[in-house]
Amino acid sequence: MHQHSHDENSHHGHDEKSHYGHHHNVSVVQNEQYNTLKPRKQKRQEMSETASREEDEKHFNNIINAYLYYQRWSMNKVSKAEKQYNILEDDHKKLVPNYLSNLEKWKQAITDNYNFIDLLIGTDLLFHENNDSATAINPASEFDMEKVGSTIRQLMREWSPEGAKEREASFGLILNELARVLPLNETNQYTYRVLCPGSGLGRLPFEICKQGYCCQGNEWSYFMLITGNYMLNKVRTIAQHTIYPYCNQTSNLFKKEDQFRGVTIPDVLPSSLPLNADFSCSAGDFVEIYGPQTEEWDVIVTCFFLDCANNIIEFAETIKNALKPGGRWINLGPLLYHFADMDEQSLELSYDEIKHVVLSLGFTFEIEKQVTTTYTNNQTSMMNTQYNCVFFSATKPK
Ligand SMILES: C[S@@+](CC[C@H](N)C(=O)[O-])C[C@H]1O[C@@H](n2cnc3c(N)ncnc32)[C@H](O)[C@@H]1O
Repeated sequence: MHQHSHDENSHHGHDEKSHYGHHHNVSVVQNEQYNTLKPRKQKRQEMSETASREEDEKHFNNIINAYLYYQRWSMNKVSKAEKQYNILEDDHKKLVPNYLSNLEKWKQAITDNYNFIDLLIGTDLLFHENNDSATAINPASEFDMEKVGSTIRQLMREWSPEGAKEREASFGLILNELARVLPLNETNQYTYRVLCPGSGLGRLPFEICKQGYCCQGNEWSYFMLITGNYMLNKVRTIAQHTIYPYCNQTSNLFKKEDQFRGVTIPDVLPSSLPLNADFSCSAGDFVEIYGPQTEEWDVIVTCFFLDCANNIIEFAETIKNALKPGGRWINLGPLLYHFADMDEQSLELSYDEIKHVVLSLGFTFEIEKQVTTTYTNNQTSMMNTQYNCVFFSATKPK
């Protein structure tokens, strides 16, 4: 199995479930789907409710287990590196004098990341309720472990000062377009409703809300939901934590210290939203939750999300139906289809094919351009990936 992710250091993406919402304890928008996220819709319909609940619980416990396995999984990498040193001849050992002390720095970075993970898992009673099996930690799949790593890198993108440039290029562009199409003044604060599906760790919906729009995120990955919940509901001070997003990356390093580079989170306090801010997040599959909705939203914002679809036409239809007449769809992202090469439905349309679909649904394109952005980019690495994304702003007919 091979799920694509935008995260340049991982070949895997995210799947699975929410929590966020209002400031000072952002409410979860409870949906029926909350407990039934995996397996996906088609398969789920064939299951009884109990079987589906059990399946979901198992899935949830797997994610918790993967988080908790992070330390052992990472320390195994250190052990491997240590073995590489031990088999060297003495004259070669002398040529890398700091090798062993760097392994200690690596271990420290892993331990610090793990302490952070422990906080994520440990502080939320909602998640604890579900989690009886936390005591026995089992080896998790490489697939899930990649996701733990990419969630840590996602923290860098969304909530660290280091991610500011990357956020400006993507979230900034979307926020500017939002301000252009729905300008705010003293009288219309928190009247427009914006939906942001595939909201990751919640920064984009947070920023949208901060501007004065009602905003709802939507996310289905437990990896994201657990970490997003912590960031939005639990963090109390700027730079409260230091995480080490690159500590397991040993390739493409100019300097050894780059591997142990820490980034502080958060760069802004989620609790800084005004009291009247309307901020929430739904947990579950976008199509399942919003498919039944009609004419609810003034704007739907999709950022690095469309290519997460099994069937992108279904995403586009859902967006169309959920938008109010004359509503706006703002999109930014590449087409790195997440389910490509997987044993799942994966309709991999090119942008011109997608455009035909969107036009056929009646949308009018007002802005359409290519934009260069990065995704969880490691700035000090010898390898950087750039996306030539498509950015569009299109209107649903009145
Ligand atoms: C590539 S990330 C983008 C996150 C954020 N928008 C950003 O730009 O940083 C895509 C997100 O969409 C979520 N996702 C994928 N398919 C989804 C679905 N069907 N319903 C809800 N969320 C989904 C993934 O879990 C992931 O967090």
